[in-house]
Order: sequence, then structure tokens, then C-alpha cells
Amino acid sequence: MERKITEISKEEISRQRFFTEEIKNLPQKPSSYFVVTYGCQMNAHDSEKLAGMLTEMGISEAACREDADLVIFNTCCVRDNAERKALGNITWLKEIRKRNPRLIIAVCGCMIQEPGMAEKILRQYRFINLAFGTSNLYRFPELLFETLNTDQNTVVVEKKDVIPEDLPIVRARKEFAYITVMYGCNNFCSYCIVPYVRGRERSRTPERILCEADDLLKKGVSEIMLLGQNVNSYGKDLDHTCSFAELLKKLDSIGIPRIRFMTSHPKDLSDGLIEVMAESKHILPQFHLPVQSGSDRILQKMNRHYTRDQYLDRVAKLRNAIPGIGLSTDIIVGFPGETDSDFQDTMDLVKTVCYDSAFTFIYSPRVGTAAAAMQEQIDPEISSQRIQDLIILQETLQQTTMSRFIGMQEEVLVEGISRRSGLDVSGKGRHGISVTLPGNTDDIGKIVQCRINGLKNNTLTAERI
Ligand code: 5AD
Ligand code: SF4
Repeated sequence: MERKITEISKEEISRQRFFTEEIKNLPQKPSSYFVVTYGCQMNAHDSEKLAGMLTEMGISEAACREDADLVIFNTCCVRDNAERKALGNITWLKEIRKRNPRLIIAVCGCMIQEPGMAEKILRQYRFINLAFGTSNLYRFPELLFETLNTDQNTVVVEKKDVIPEDLPIVRARKEFAYITVMYGCNNFCSYCIVPYVRGRERSRTPERILCEADDLLKKGVSEIMLLGQNVNSYGKDLDHTCSFAELLKKLDSIGIPRIRFMTSHPKDLSDGLIEVMAESKHILPQFHLPVQSGSDRILQKMNRHYTRDQYLDRVAKLRNAIPGIGLSTDIIVGFPGETDSDFQDTMDLVKTVCYDSAFTFIYSPRVGTAAAAMQEQIDPEISSQRIQDLIILQETLQQTTMSRFIGMQEEVLVEGISRRSGLDVSGKGRHGISVTLPGNTDDIGKIVQCRINGLKNNTLTAERI
């Protein structure tokens, strides 16, 4: 079967290279850039691609946005507060332009792909010079070239489900790298805007992914994180020639010391994947498994395609196969029609599972999604009380859950100096939990052997061994 979804062509890549070279030689080229990133890991990785393209244009990174000639906001629209924060910060930058008339303001990312947003920008945010959606990221050199050669603002939002390949990447960290395994999502959970702004599922070929991983290994990267909105449906559009479990197995054999992935949809979490994890050498014992709600009624209204019991069965399978596995989740409270009893089901599920961490959100209606049109939207005060109750419960449980690590040996990939004490460093252990230990800048980027000796503010503390 021929693939309907294609990678961007070689001709398109050369076209973009041509604009990169043209910008390099433009007298009005910005001298420095700053990218402000909102949202998820996928966006953080897109920002690394922007940085890669800008570096090839000979534009260097500024220390802060106030110092830059080109500021790019890479936006998120998954919840209303992410969107409001971005729009507020973009408007604030208008003031900076009074000091630096050369300043170019660009906005990209999911928010730009939202229905009606491009028109809104043209009308209300005329000071934005360039706006482009996630599907047009690979065309950034061409779009920037156009912006630098015109007084008009450039707004491009084409919905194209292509796979961008061969983009230059400047990674934020030397020892850690994101690898996108698939783009888009087909699930249409009723609250979620992602399928509308990131398009349909499309998997990169295993050859491309393995080649990227191999290259990263040669560069000395110690940890990779595989990215996709729903990594468990990886390969379905590749005519089922390689599943996510099979991809993981291949990646495990390459020899990168640590492999993580996110995000998984519980309905697609196969026994095969759990077996591969259990048998692997390098896939870390950590799993992010968003549950969203503990009530079957709400799960159904959310279009999640699993029941509470089926979810609990996945958790049990994971814990049986990989003892001590680190488990995290996402939970939404205040979904339309959520009763006190539904919310208690969520509280009860959280008590049953005992997560190592939980990201909790108040439901935020997103225009165009099925849930936004549902009756019985919940009073914000009730949602706010529910999230507070949930956070308190999770924090209390986490104290006990995380104390299972005390006395255990752990390997920490050090990310930087601890925010709490200049004499400590912090990083992630194999189970995905933050660990603080004594150290200095020499440790950054290294894997340090330590023993967990305590728990402070939901972070594990450790001593070196
Ligand atoms: N309102 C609140 N939370 C949401 N999420 C996604 N869409 C919404 C929304 N409309 C949460 C889900 C998802 C996480 C990334 O964001 O919990 O797993
Ligand atoms: Fe959104 Fe559901 Fe897709 Fe996750 S699986 S991105 S929550 S639609």
C-alpha cells in the first residue's frame, strides 16, 4: 500500500536552503534571535528546529528577549490560560519595539493553527510581523525572507499533514535529545484541540528514527525521549510494518544508555510493549499514562475508549512486569457534567493507583471541540475546589509513594545546579523522578551513581556513591 502521507520533498528542502543562504547575505538580517516556548515537549523540540534554522542563517541567540532583534513566540493552545499568557507577552513586546524599531515579532505553533486565529492576528495584532502554523515550520526560512523584504505582515496557515525531515536542529542540551517518532493525533478526545491544530497521525519511518538515534549516540547523547501525541499508535499508517513495541526493541539495541517516551494512550497500550520494556536494557522504568478521569461516565463523554477497570488493568500489568516502575498521569477536573460522585471516582482512582506524579488541569473549553458544545459546563468555583482537593490528595500520597525509593541506588542524569542550593545539582533518576544531590557544574550532563536518602518538597534527595 502506498503511503498517503509524505515527507517534504528534496526540492522543498533545497528551496528552503536557498532562502537560508539569501537571508545570510541580507543587510537587514536580524543580528540576534530569542525563542519563547510555551506548552509541551513537542513545542520545545520545534523550538530546537527553529534555533537550528536560525543558526544556519548566521543569526545568533540573544541572552534574553529584550536584547533580540527577532523574537519568536512558539505558542500552545491546549488550555485557555496558555493562550492568554502568550497573547499577553506578545502584546508586552510591542513596548520593546519603541526602543528597538528593528524588532521583528513572529508567532508560530499550535495557537496559529486554531480556527479564526490568523484572521484575529491580521485584525487585532497588526504589530506581529510574521505568523505561521505548526504545519509550516519547515518553511520558516522562506517566510522570514518574505517578512524581511516587505512592510506587510506575513500570515501563513496551511493545513498540510506532511512529515518534515532533514531540518537542522540546535538541541538545548548536549546529553539529552528529543526524537519525534510521530506527528498529529487521530483520537479526538472530546475536550482536546490537538487533532485540529496538529493534524492526523503520521509516523516517521523506523529507518529515519534509527538513523537519528545512531547519530545521537555517536555524538555522546546519554538519553533520548521519543515524542508523539500518542506513541502507542506509532506505525499504524506505515501499513503496520513496525509497531511502537518493535521500534522500541530496535532502538534498545543501538546502545543509547537511556530511552524514555511520551505520551501513551491507555487504550493502545499493548502487552507487547510492556514485554519489550520489561526485557529491554535501556528503556527506563517510567511510564506517563494519562487517565483524565476515574469515572466511567466521564471517560465515555471524553471519548477515551477505555473504562476505569481497563485502565487499572494496564497499571497492574505494568507494575507486575516492571516492579517499582515510576508512574505519572494527567487528570482533568470539571469536565462538563462531572458530578461530585464522578469527581470522587477520580479521587478514589488516584488513591488506588498512587502515582509518583500527576499533572492536574481544570477543564478549559476549546472552540470547535465536542465538549465545548456540551450542556452542563461546571461552575469555575466548583472546579477550582476540586482541583485543590485533588492536588492536596496527590501531594499527601506522593510522600508515601516516593518514599519507596529511600535507601535505593539510583542513576541520575544531571541537568544543572539545583534551584534550591548552589551546592547541589539536580536531574532525573531512571524512574523519571527529580533527584537532588551534592555536586557542581562538572557533573552537568553526566550520569551519577547515588543512593536516595530522603524526600524534600516532592523531590528525592541523594548522596553520591
Ligand atoms: N482542558 C483541560 N485540560 C486539557 N488537556 C488537554 N485538553 C484540555 C482541555 N481542554 C490536558 C489533558 C492532556 C494534557 C496534555 O492536557 O490532561 O493529557
Ligand atoms: Fe488530545 Fe486525546 Fe490526542 Fe492526547 S490522545 S492529543 S488528549 S486528542
